Amino acid sequence: MSEPAAQPSSAPDRDALAGSLGGDDSLVLPEFDAPPTDPIPLVQRWIADAFDRGVREPLAAALATVDADGRPSNRVLLLKAVDHDGVVFYGQYDSRKGRDIASVPFASVVLYWRETIQQLRIDGRVERLDDAASEALFATRLRAAQAAATASDQSRPLDGEDALRARFDAAMAGDDPIPRPEGWGGYRIVPEAIELWHGNRDRLHRRLRYTRDGEGWSAERLQP
Ligand SMILES: Cc1cc2nc3c(=O)[nH]c(=O)nc-3n(C[C@H](O)[C@H](O)[C@H](O)COP(=O)(O)O)c2cc1C
Repeated sequence: MSEPAAQPSSAPDRDALAGSLGGDDSLVLPEFDAPPTDPIPLVQRWIADAFDRGVREPLAAALATVDADGRPSNRVLLLKAVDHDGVVFYGQYDSRKGRDIASVPFASVVLYWRETIQQLRIDGRVERLDDAASEALFATRLRAAQAAATASDQSRPLDGEDALRARFDAAMAGDDPIPRPEGWGGYRIVPEAIELWHGNRDRLHRRLRYTRDGEGWSAERLQP
């Protein structure tokens, strides 16, 4: 009896294995047929609905930046807020992403919710939050997160797990509030383009793209 043909290891049927596009493609999303003029409340509603629908990490986003030589890099982080001023996230100003943004103040975030087959893309110019806003953000963080931000020089080579742990323990010690490290703070992406995408198992995914148009926005549907 001949052996069954082996699945080529470099090209497994990922759709079948991982249930790609296996989420809910039956959401009723009338915005694709009648786009509202302002995409921000729409994005906020998508995020609120994602929480209500049990999406695991509705605010986890990939943030792409570009360095001074035009080389892109990407990492996942948590968005803190999306409102009319923009998309807020935080990190360290001297991290890889912070240095990129200092050279090229533009970024792109993408969120993917596999449970509902939705994708959100937001691109725009990046600015730092002012110190007061960063202080307020830092104050909302768990003490361990504050201590970690104090102990870690984000994106720099590790000088040793023990050394890092000792700095963390020193920051955690006592009951005094942990001050915000100077190099830690918030950023805001001021959106210039926003795309809302809903996948369909028939592959005729729906895309709605907004681009800044003066004070307002223009909307258009894109082919999938
Ligand atoms: C779910 C998740 C949430 C994260 N949240 C943040 C965050 O809010 N801020 C941050 O700086 N890094 C966050 N990280 C870590 C980043 O992915 C990344 O390792 C870090 O920002 C350093 O990236 P950089 O060297 O490109 O600057 C998160 C990672 C994951 C997986």
